[in-house]
Order: sequence, then structure tokens, then C-alpha cells
Amino acid sequence: MHHTDGEEDGGTREEVLNGDTPGAWRPGSTPSVALEISSLSHGPDAVARHEGRVVFVPGVAPGDTVEARLVNEHASFARAEVVRRLASGAAYRVAPCAWVTECGGCPWQQVAYDVQLAAKATNVREALARIGGLSAAHELPIRRAPDEWRYRHRIRLHVGAGGALGYRRARSHQVVEIGDCVIADAALAAALPAVRALVRRLATRLATVELVGNGAGGVVVSGAAHGAFVAADERHISTLLATAAAPARIVGVQLAADGWQRTWGDVRVRVDPDAGGTTIVQHPRAFSQVNPAANRLLVETVCTMAAPARRVLDLFCGAGNFSLPLARAGADVIGVEASAAAVADARASAAACGLTGARFEATSALHFLRQQGLAGTELVVLDPPRTGAAGAVAQLARLRAPRIVYVSCDPATLARDVAVLAAAGYRIGRLQPLDLFPQTPHVETVLEAALAID
Ligand SMILES: C[S@@+](CC[C@H](N)C(=O)[O-])C[C@H]1O[C@@H](n2cnc3c(N)ncnc32)[C@H](O)[C@@H]1O
Repeated sequence: MHHTDGEEDGGTREEVLNGDTPGAWRPGSTPSVALEISSLSHGPDAVARHEGRVVFVPGVAPGDTVEARLVNEHASFARAEVVRRLASGAAYRVAPCAWVTECGGCPWQQVAYDVQLAAKATNVREALARIGGLSAAHELPIRRAPDEWRYRHRIRLHVGAGGALGYRRARSHQVVEIGDCVIADAALAAALPAVRALVRRLATRLATVELVGNGAGGVVVSGAAHGAFVAADERHISTLLATAAAPARIVGVQLAADGWQRTWGDVRVRVDPDAGGTTIVQHPRAFSQVNPAANRLLVETVCTMAAPARRVLDLFCGAGNFSLPLARAGADVIGVEASAAAVADARASAAACGLTGARFEATSALHFLRQQGLAGTELVVLDPPRTGAAGAVAQLARLRAPRIVYVSCDPATLARDVAVLAAAGYRIGRLQPLDLFPQTPHVETVLEAALAID
């Protein structure tokens, strides 16, 4: 669950984390200082200024005043640890999670939700300006998540020494056992004790375990193993499925490693991306947006921006989260996705929903564009992984795609890719930030780019 923080102003992640960095703090070497927290950064920490330098401070909110120790000093920035809180600002609240500091997955939970939202909108705008030299013609107000807590239908836990099950400690590989997770939905939280007991009993060595809500109140457990399956584990898994009762409704287990996969019970995961009755049924390891309620706002935003296009190419389409609702709205859609299993799920879901306007190709986005070009496509939707889509975007610019709706979970790679489009004559129209990940610095963005006609 711990999300890696990207580069922050003034230093790389490697510099910051390397204890041998020249100038790094040594215990007892630095007196504490008073810091006034001014804003949130685009990573997990908040920001103060001290003697002309930016100081990154964890666990605080804008408006707070704290006594802190500088623990990692560099020419233009430093990191600090809070010694004690001197005064809390209006944006501060007590973090509800008992593991907030050890886990590090929700580093903004002590910050009022409206302040989190404003910071996310600013971070998107500033990334576009700083990295791409860009601004949008129409920046829309950030859309808030329907639920601030208990919104995730999927959590990924690590298995540590002695079968410990939890999140990785921030900036480390150590596993922090957690009793609850305040952003996991209620079904996942209820299933956690039974899953923990199962992991302890299994002789098969597991690296990670995902708990996935199946969209109908049940929970699917999906484990990634090291080495072989140990046959004696059959009975533990069968017993779990036979005895799991409300509120811990575990309905299926899947274990996999290189070369094998075993399934018990029903592991199908159902996603309802729109209000029109579209249902996607996918396997538990396929990508799905982690926040189903906020995902419906994301899908609605993409469909609104896509209209009135009738011929749509949906690159990085997963199991059809956008393709199927776009087809339901009347478009002819080609979905392109590298995972053959996700494409199989998308095809089966389109058939089950009677959506004949959607077809799918299992290949890389760049390969598809090179082989097939655009052939009358009016609009390209693309939703790449966090690393962005440098190759596909350069190819889209070469092919003169008339209009693009870019969905991104990383403002920095979005800005880098959109700068390539801008240099090729595209203008940014609507820009819609959305919050899919409350309590974290992560932000989703939907951006519309159209080829300017001079
Ligand atoms: C952020 S997910 C988006 C999926 C889908 N649009 C959704 O909303 O559920 C990115 C998807 O891109 C796929 N992917 C990764 N690299 C790819 C590539 N080079 N070409 C096509 N698909 C790729 C992944 O398998 C994943 O399903």
C-alpha cells in the first residue's frame, strides 16, 4: 500500500533516502527549530521554509506550527521530524488510523479533506506549468470522492517474516501488521482476520496477498507465491471457504506463481462502471480502479469529454472500464490492451451486456498504432500506467489524431507527454482533476487535447 513518493523539489529520491549522503543528519547533531507549515507538497509531506530552504515535514497540515528536527539537510531543501506540535491550524485533524506513521500509505489523513482536494488541484496545474510549460483553456473544479474513508475495493498486503501480513513500512521492506485499514471497504476489513489466519497456516510461501471486493459483497483472496504449491494447503483453503461467514464473506481464493495457478470457489470480480447497467466481470489479478464509487465519476467524465465522437480508440483499456460505457453511449470502440487475460474479460463482458459496438485487441498500444494507424478514429482515449505513454503519444502526434482524452494517475508523466502533443500543434481544452485516492497525495486527471486548426 505504501506509495512511493516521486521526486520532490530540490533533490532526488535516491539522494534523500541514502543515509550516506554528504550532509545527512546524524543523531544529536541538530538542534530543533520552530516551523510554520505553509502547504502540502506533491509527495507525502507538507512544506515549511527555514532559512531560505524548503523543509519537508511529515504528519502535519498547512497552518500548523511545530517544533522539529532537521534530519536530512541539502543545499536547497531539508527533511524534518516533528518533535512536538506547538499549535494546530484550521486544516489539522487527528488521523484516525493507528498505523499512520509506520505504514505511510495515507500520509495526508491528518489534513481536512477540502484542503487535500485544493492541494491536488494545485499540484496538477503546477505540474503542467512546471514540466510542460502548459495551461488548460478550461480547468474544471476537482471532483471529490463520494467516500473519504473505506473506499478501496482492493488492498495489497505483503507477507513478512513468520507470516506477518500487512503494509510495508514507509521507505523500507519491513512488513507492518495492521489490525484495520481505514480506506479499505468494510467487507475487506471484516475479512482481514480470517485471511491473516489462513496465511499463517499455509506452507506455500506467499509474497503478497490481495483482498478484492467482488462487487456483490464478497471478498476474493488472490496470493502471489514463491515456489511450488504445497498440496497439504488444500484443506486449509477449503475449510476457509466452507466456514467464512458474514461479515467476512470470502467467496474465492486464487494462488499463483511462475508456471502455476490454482483456484478455489468463485474468484470473479464484478465492476459496474456506469449507471446504465454495464457490468464487467474480470479475473482478480486484472487491473481495476481501486475506488469503485469514484470510478463511476471518472467514467462519466471520460464519456462526457468523448462525446460526440462515434469512432473511438481506447488505448490501455484494461477490461473495458471506458470502452463498454462508451459503446453503451453509442460509439464504435476499439479497445487495445497488453494483457490478454484482461482482453478476454472485456470481450466476454461486452457479449454479456449485448454491446456489439466494442471490440478488443490484445497487443501493446504502440504496436497497434504502428500496425493499424487511426483509420477514421475521431477520438483516442488513453489511460496508461503511472509511467505514462511516451511512445504512443509520439505516434499519435505523428498520425495527427484529431482529439485525445488522456486519463492519468501521475501529473508529472501527463505533463511530459502533453508537452509533446503541444509541440505538435495540440491545444489543451478541458482539464478535470478527480480524487480517486483520499488521504493520499495521488490524483487522477482527465485532460482533453485537440489538434489546433489554423
Ligand atoms: C491504468 S490501467 C487502465 C485500465 C483501464 N483503462 C481502466 O480504467 O480500468 C493501465 C492498463 O494498461 C495496460 N498496459 C500496460 N502497458 C501497456 C501497453 N504498452 N500497451 C497496452 N496496454 C498496456 C495494463 O495492463 C493496464 O490494464
